[in-house]
Formats: sequence, C-alpha cells, structure tokens
Amino acid sequence: MKTLIVYGSRYGATTGTSEEIAKTLREEGFTVQVVNAKEEKVDDISEYELIIVGSGMKIDRWTKEPENFLKKFRKKLAKKKVAIFVSSGVQAIYEYEGNTEAMGRAWRKYLKEKAEKYSLNPIAMAIFGGVLNFSKMGWMARKTVGQLWRKFEEAGFEKKNENYDTRDWDAIQNWAKELARKVRA
Ligand SMILES: Cc1cc2nc3c(=O)[nH]c(=O)nc-3n(C[C@H](O)[C@H](O)[C@H](O)COP(=O)(O)O)c2cc1C
Repeated sequence: MKTLIVYGSRYGATTGTSEEIAKTLREEGFTVQVVNAKEEKVDDISEYELIIVGSGMKIDRWTKEPENFLKKFRKKLAKKKVAIFVSSGVQAIYEYEGNTEAMGRAWRKYLKEKAEKYSLNPIAMAIFGGVLNFSKMGWMARKTVGQLWRKFEEAGFEKKNENYDTRDWDAIQNWAKELARKVRA
C-alpha cells in the first residue's frame, strides 16, 4: 500500500507525529513517503493509494502548505483514501478539564470543516497533542496561549528542555494501526 504523508509544522511537533505515523504504517507493511510541505512540493499523487494530511494549529488555523495541498488536489483526493490530523497544544488541557464543549468545537473547526471545505470524506481524523515552549514565546504567543502554562503544570505535564510535549505516542501509533486496518478492509 503506497502511502503519502504531507504535513505542515511551525514548531516541529507535527514532524515527529508524521514520522511516528510513518514508522507504524511501515511496520504494518505499508510503503510510506513523508513530505514536509514547507520544504517540498508535491506534483503528482497518482501512485499513492492512501494519503494522510496533517498540520500544526495556530490560532485555530492550519499551516498554509498542507491546506494548499488539499486545495490543489481536491478532485484527485476524492478518489483516494484520505486521513487528516492536527497537532494541538490545548487538546491535552481540554481533556484534563473534561471540557467536551471545547473538544467538540476543535473537532468541528480543525477537522470536520476542513474536510467539508475540500469535499473530502476522510476514513480517519485525529487531534493529537503538540509541543509548547512557554519560555520562548513572544508577546503575541503569550497573549494567545502563554497563560496556559500553569494548567500544564497542574495537569502533571513535565517540562523537558523548556518544552511541554503533550504528544501521546501510544495514541498516535494506535490511530495509525487502526487506519491500516480500515484501509485493508
Ligand atoms: C501563538 C500560538 C497559537 C496557538 N494556537 C493554537 C490553537 O488555536 N489551537 C490549538 O489547538 N493549539 C494552538 N497552539 C498550540 C500549537 O498547536 C502547538 O504548539 C503545536 O505543537 C503546533 O504544531 P507544530 O509544532 O507542528 O507547528 C498555539 C501555539 C502558539 C505558539
């Protein structure tokens, strides 16, 4: 099963997540190419059967490159198996707080609306955790998410190299395994 993962990342979290999905799918016997859309352009998707598109979130927005990919190939993607995911710095806090309203909103805004916008019918979607470095934030970022660091502490996330990394590798691997199962079905 030839698979393409196209992603966009601002702070690097989605790079790690994409690599982990690729690793898991390779273990399942898939042939996987990973493309950082900020560095590489994709011209042709005809050889791929499964296409996974992912992005980091910033103020409710995807990075523009994977979104441009969806726009450019929307007609061709309609005939492929497609999955989409995002990296979110705040999802772990919503989960910790049991804030189902915020989680529902994120699911709609980050994933469902994106799929609808490009007439996609994804076989899987996911919101994974992200990475936040509060010590490096400029005033704009502080204004948006800087007040959250206390909640990360409260929720028991450990700071490593000044980063709060909320990526759940088991969840990422399980999602990729389940995706492999769906593709084979
Ligand atoms: C200025 C700023 C705004 C952010 N806005 C959001 C947001 O609206 N929703 C969200 O889920 N995460 C938000 N985040 C957290 C990022 O999604 C998180 O850092 C993630 O790791 C980004 O993925 P990337 O590292 O691949 O770019 C924001 C982070 C920063 C610094």
